[in-house]
Amino acid sequence: MVEASVSSGPIKYPLSMRILHWIRAVLILGLIWAGWRMTGFPEDTPMEKFNFYYHNHKQFGILVWLVAIVHLAIRWRKRAVLPQTPSRLTGWEKLLSKIVHRLIIALTLLVPMLGYAMSSSFTQSDGVPFFFIHEVPEVLPKNDAAFEVYDMLHEYSAYVLLGLIVLHAAGAIKHRLTDKGGETDVLPRML
Ligand code: HEM
Ligand code: HEM
Repeated sequence: MVEASVSSGPIKYPLSMRILHWIRAVLILGLIWAGWRMTGFPEDTPMEKFNFYYHNHKQFGILVWLVAIVHLAIRWRKRAVLPQTPSRLTGWEKLLSKIVHRLIIALTLLVPMLGYAMSSSFTQSDGVPFFFIHEVPEVLPKNDAAFEVYDMLHEYSAYVLLGLIVLHAAGAIKHRLTDKGGETDVLPRML
């Protein structure tokens, strides 16, 4: 029997996907926290502190985008050996988990792109750094009206992503608590 056709719990996600999953989780939750914190700094915040947060928010945000691309590539290459949705889940649970996974995958690509579009179109932008690349080219035309739109979309989409992550984690924890060791206890597949 090929591995892909087994739908029970013990099959894990490939190691590379498990590692990337938890790296992404830490990075994204850190970025949401940092984004929320830095946009609430009072006017008299020292410039170094302000720059430290913005600089790292941007470069780690771009890192999340690159990791999301790598995750998609690995997911596609390993599609034949990915664990199946547990057959014991109810119809609506299967649908919900699929939709939430897909939306999370889409938003981990979209949110950083909107962040980049915001910085790139802002006339007063301090630039977009990425570790050894000090100035990632800002390819969009400078336009503060467009910046306002990207700013709003970046904020809303980031908080929608947070809501989905909370739902996603709550689902995993709920099944761990109520069906420990059963087919629908999916947490060990990601550990
Ligand atoms: C920023 C945070 C997170 C992101 C972006 C994220 C993203 C994802 C994605 C995209 C998948 C589907 C994997 C795939 O098919 O490619 C997944 C699966 C999974 N995640 Fe997360 N996750 C996050 C946080 C968490 C947390 C906090 C938990 C646990 C409390 C968790 C537990 C799981 C489990 C158990 C699976 C496997 C589900 C299954 O096999 O049906 N995740 N995650
Ligand atoms: C997954 C990646 C990212 C997440 C989850 C994220 C999340 C957030 C959040 C939650 C905020 C605060 C929004 C608010 O309450 O007003 C924020 C602000 C911001 N983000 Fe991101 N971000 C990401 C990537 C990026 C990237 C790649 C850039 C730029 C290259 C960027 C640039 C900014 C800027 C400049 C702000 C401040 C906007 C303002 O001052 O109004 N972000 N981000």
